[in-house]
Amino acid sequence: MSSPSKAELIHRFKGIPFTTMSSPELLKSLDAFDAREDDVLLVSYPKSGTHWLAGVITKLYDTHVTLTSPIEFGDISKLEELNKLSSKRIIPTHLDYNMLPLNFKNKNCKMIYISRNPKDTAVSMYHYYRENPNLPTVDTWTAFFDLFLKGDVVCGSWFDHFLSWEAHANDKNILFLFYEDMKKDLSKIIKEMSLFLGLSVSENAIQEICKKSSFSEMKSDTEKENSNPSHTVCALTSNRKLIFRKGTVGDWKNHFTPKQNRRFEEIFNEKMKLSEM
Ligand code: A3P
Repeated sequence: MSSPSKAELIHRFKGIPFTTMSSPELLKSLDAFDAREDDVLLVSYPKSGTHWLAGVITKLYDTHVTLTSPIEFGDISKLEELNKLSSKRIIPTHLDYNMLPLNFKNKNCKMIYISRNPKDTAVSMYHYYRENPNLPTVDTWTAFFDLFLKGDVVCGSWFDHFLSWEAHANDKNILFLFYEDMKKDLSKIIKEMSLFLGLSVSENAIQEICKKSSFSEMKSDTEKENSNPSHTVCALTSNRKLIFRKGTVGDWKNHFTPKQNRRFEEIFNEKMKLSEM
């Protein structure tokens, strides 16, 4: 059997490429979503460390919370399904700020945005494209590099996504985090998150969370199926085994040629010239 074509796997909504796992009907109906004031959103461009963040955040609560699948993942029945949950909801999403259901904004729901060096994000996404049957085939890193810079990948341009959220970085209900800072000092970031979420977490509990959230622990939990293997916080697959690859900072250096690096920097500097970060 031949593999599905790009047209069968990808559709565009408001100009942004989505996989067919996000149905157009669901995307159209997002603004009707009934957000609750205590919902917490986990926001990211794909491959920025969403699962890591989700692993940490769920361990911060000592009450029952439900980590849902991404709001844009599924068909029209999704909103109803989320409505039925009675516990506090932690809702992941890869949507850019403009597409986020209005209700989350009107109700000032807390949102945590995680970002990562886009060069590492691009490399991580390249490997994901190669492994993930829900994404179109890419033959070479060189071909993927061009698609990434053009924003012709799922969830669109990294730059547009980041800038749409950065414009709200000073909103009191939004916390901006970076993958690299989590790698450097996870306990510091956990303290920042607890403060933002209004949770009191002891030093011992923080150390325990750091241990349980290490790359090796999370990867082996998935391999041992200690965590649900068919529950991801990525709208591009429900297969958890595709998530934990290397978990390092700087893997881009093993993929970018000097010429690609110069081109990336030029485009980065141009697109990000108004960015404060
Ligand atoms: P790599 O492909 O570079 O290894 P997302 O969760 O947004 O899909 O991001 C996936 C990336 O986060 C992958 O990057 C994955 O290995 C990394 N990751 C997942 N859990 C991690 C952890 N506990 N520590 C560090 N990196 C982690």
